[in-house]
Amino acid sequence: MSIAVNAGSIRLSKTQPAIALSPRPLLQVRSTHDDKKKILFVTSELTDLIKTGGLADVSAALPRALGALHDVRVLIPGYAQVMRSGHSIRVVGSLSAQADLPACRIGRMDMPDGLIIYVLICPELYEREGSPYGDGHGNDWPDNPIRFARLGLAAAEIAAGTACIRWAPDLVHAHDWPAGLTPAYMHWRGLHTPSVFTIHNLAYQGNIDMSLRRSLGLPHEASGPERMEFYGKLSLLKAGIAYANHVTTVSATYAEEITTEEFGCGMEGFLRMKARQGLLSGLLNGIDESWEPESDPHLVRGFSARNWDGKVANATYVREAFGLELDGSPLFAVVSRLVHQKGVDLTLGVAETIVRNGGQLAILGQGEPHIEDEVRELARRYPGRIAAHIGFNESDARRLFAGSDFLLMPSRYEPCGLSQMYAQRYASLPIARRTGGLADSIEDGVTGFLFDETSVASYRATVLRALEVHRRPQLHCAMRCRAMAAGFFWRHAIAPYDRLYQRLLGERHEVSHSIP
Ligand code: ADP
Ligand code: GLC
Repeated sequence: MSIAVNAGSIRLSKTQPAIALSPRPLLQVRSTHDDKKKILFVTSELTDLIKTGGLADVSAALPRALGALHDVRVLIPGYAQVMRSGHSIRVVGSLSAQADLPACRIGRMDMPDGLIIYVLICPELYEREGSPYGDGHGNDWPDNPIRFARLGLAAAEIAAGTACIRWAPDLVHAHDWPAGLTPAYMHWRGLHTPSVFTIHNLAYQGNIDMSLRRSLGLPHEASGPERMEFYGKLSLLKAGIAYANHVTTVSATYAEEITTEEFGCGMEGFLRMKARQGLLSGLLNGIDESWEPESDPHLVRGFSARNWDGKVANATYVREAFGLELDGSPLFAVVSRLVHQKGVDLTLGVAETIVRNGGQLAILGQGEPHIEDEVRELARRYPGRIAAHIGFNESDARRLFAGSDFLLMPSRYEPCGLSQMYAQRYASLPIARRTGGLADSIEDGVTGFLFDETSVASYRATVLRALEVHRRPQLHCAMRCRAMAAGFFWRHAIAPYDRLYQRLLGERHEVSHSIP
């Protein structure tokens, strides 16, 4: 599966040249006494401001966690939701137009906790109603290639010092296809600043028409098969993989899976090559410190492993809010984007088993319209036992994790998955397929339940196993306690990132010394 970026409305300019390859700037050797490095994160989502899924959570939490070690700042497009977020924005720099990418300004937003966010201000590209990627009705913005090329080039210009924001990163860390051109533009500018590219989901590739090359200011070499070319198109995701100094993805298992035909989305050969060269690693995501069941202000009542009353209160809230019968039956939850990846169709297949065994199911999410319709239809069939809210809000998501006994995550593939970590923290045992980060973060029979095959039969057997555990309060309680203590916090998960950054900065350092 790939998400093709519709590039229909891009104006192709024959007269404007591709961005010229500038001569390599002279390197400056930085002080070895200053261990705190300047890192720029480049992302299209950030939970504080705009979110469609886990990328936003990681983009918000990882820089903050790394902030203990480094000066980490974030660059994000100035979407309407960002511009009207209520945080003040001070213009600190500007960038000129290049090829068909318009001029823009850079604003600085200081979050109350000290995180510094650079906002790429360009109303014609970003200030419109909808999601970061489309109009919210399933249509991608036709000018996405320009919108996200502008993001990548802005990051490269910040790294080159041309944005005049009085801050230049030692290392740039770009995330997913929307930021994929960042390492590429950095390379074409001749920068020696190391770059890391993280794949959060290989299936979303930002593939665009080859004819857009000049309009985005890409040099001819971009269209080579070892570069951005992907089945006759140009891939923004592949640009990130091709040009970054190192590629990471968000779990060790997914890092292996994406080198196979089954999970590689057509890029497996290229990724195998990167893996052979030691340039691909899997680093498991974490969760932020707000996931604290005793004090989370989103919950109707806090709880802990010593006192479960608050968990019951959240379950009651969920039952009332979703219109489920008020009883103490096993409560299953789905909190998910409703897309093929997440295997919601498989959950429809086990729903009857849940109900027949006295369970209830509450579903919160939104996504592909036909899956939304199927979910609504399911809820209509089992009034009082199955209910769905099509939409998303953070408080209800957290109350569902807190109130449910089991979280269903039968994903076909799952690069990492955060919901199963949130659920464990809130004593809801995940029932998940053994793939990607689910395999790496759930201990079968200890902190949750795993099944292997993408089939209703395999899933159903595991749901029955979970129901059996629910009937044995002592075992259930022991599993809940183990899940809550699993400790996926970012503070334990940043070390591999730090080591990677230090290594890349060290390599850069050596390079800079070796230049006459
Ligand atoms: P993914 O990023 O693939 O959706 P993750 O498990 O990594 O999966 O992250 C899910 C995050 O997104 C959680 O914070 C979850 O609460 C949230 N979420 C789930 N569904 C939606 C949605 N429809 N819109 C916005 N956020 C959602
Ligand atoms: C993607 C993946 C998800 C991962 C998230 C954050 O959306 O689908 O598995 O947890 O990114 O890395």
